[in-house]
Amino acid sequence: MKKLVGFIGWRGMVGSVLLDRMQKNNDFKNINPIFFTTSQVGEKTPVMIDCTTSFLEDAYNIDHLKELDIIVSCQGAEYTSIIYHKLRKLGWNGYWIDASSELRLKNDSIIVLDPVNLDSIHKALNQDIKTFVGGNCTVSLMLMALGGLFKRNVIEWVTVSTYQAVSGGGAKYMLEMLQQMGYIYNSISLRNKILNKGILEIEKLARDAMKNNFFPKKYFTVPLTGSLIPWIDSSMKNGQSKEEWKGAIETNKILNSKNYIPIDGTCVRIASLRCHSQSFFIKLNDNIPIKKIESWISSHNPWVKFIKNTEKDTVKNLTPFAVTGTLNIPIGRLRKLNIGKNYISAFSVGDQLLWGAAEPLRRMLNILIS
Ligand code: HSE
Repeated sequence: MKKLVGFIGWRGMVGSVLLDRMQKNNDFKNINPIFFTTSQVGEKTPVMIDCTTSFLEDAYNIDHLKELDIIVSCQGAEYTSIIYHKLRKLGWNGYWIDASSELRLKNDSIIVLDPVNLDSIHKALNQDIKTFVGGNCTVSLMLMALGGLFKRNVIEWVTVSTYQAVSGGGAKYMLEMLQQMGYIYNSISLRNKILNKGILEIEKLARDAMKNNFFPKKYFTVPLTGSLIPWIDSSMKNGQSKEEWKGAIETNKILNSKNYIPIDGTCVRIASLRCHSQSFFIKLNDNIPIKKIESWISSHNPWVKFIKNTEKDTVKNLTPFAVTGTLNIPIGRLRKLNIGKNYISAFSVGDQLLWGAAEPLRRMLNILIS
């Protein structure tokens, strides 16, 4: 009998990517899907998917949710915080797969990233754990890139500088970034045609446009296009941003580390659409030859792609543009640092909506189904 799987928040960005990936992989043929909504009860279900019911069901109807074998929620932390606990209190014993951070650090939840922690997932299933949560995108993308080193326990610590895409903030941030680009371009081109300015005067026009009261910055609060924002998420008491704090805490939970691996750095929002990039400085616990490091990294999983440390290879293959919309995790700029023989640097890029969000959830659902 096929499992009854409820989808909530499937119209949002992560949910849409999840559905797209599921369709492309024919995942729907293995389940009986039911689509829920928080706001449009009774509307038609997605036309391209063969559904158990033809209309959208109420995502707040606990009695209906209780009948499901599996719930996949991309609706966000607020929804999860209300509904998950209500369902569990009522004794619902189904599997909950969640994209939000709400349940990530609970003792009885597993952060899923099966190319890295399939063993922990299987162990959890044997122990009757029923809550599986997608990790923070930056963490998942780092682990997909550096998995080969973490697996061999050769990392003493990592510092990281991130270059994070606007999709991490949500759809409205993506749109606002594009609006900012358009606003700057229009401000220059309209006047430049008449004035035929030099580059410094053009730069001044761009700067003036960014300072204009009408410049679109409702969500970012400041211009991002033509600039950057070195803060992501709320503030922790120790001076970290929450995104920075998650780096160590979630990584160590995913790895189920016996010895805590310190990870820290600065997370920065940049004007990239949907790929997060990360620059790593790593202290290894030994002087490991670079060729060996390269082979450990590139043999870890089928998606990590080692990029030779040359200008040509880097510029062609190690950019958000080269990666966007793919599952590839290129990692390059690998070299020993002049600081010492145990120190290396590396740079990696990954699609924040795929391995950073939807793909681990899709794969977890398939693990449950199989
Ligand atoms: N917190 C991330 C970001 C989103 O803002 O880029 C994915 O976890």
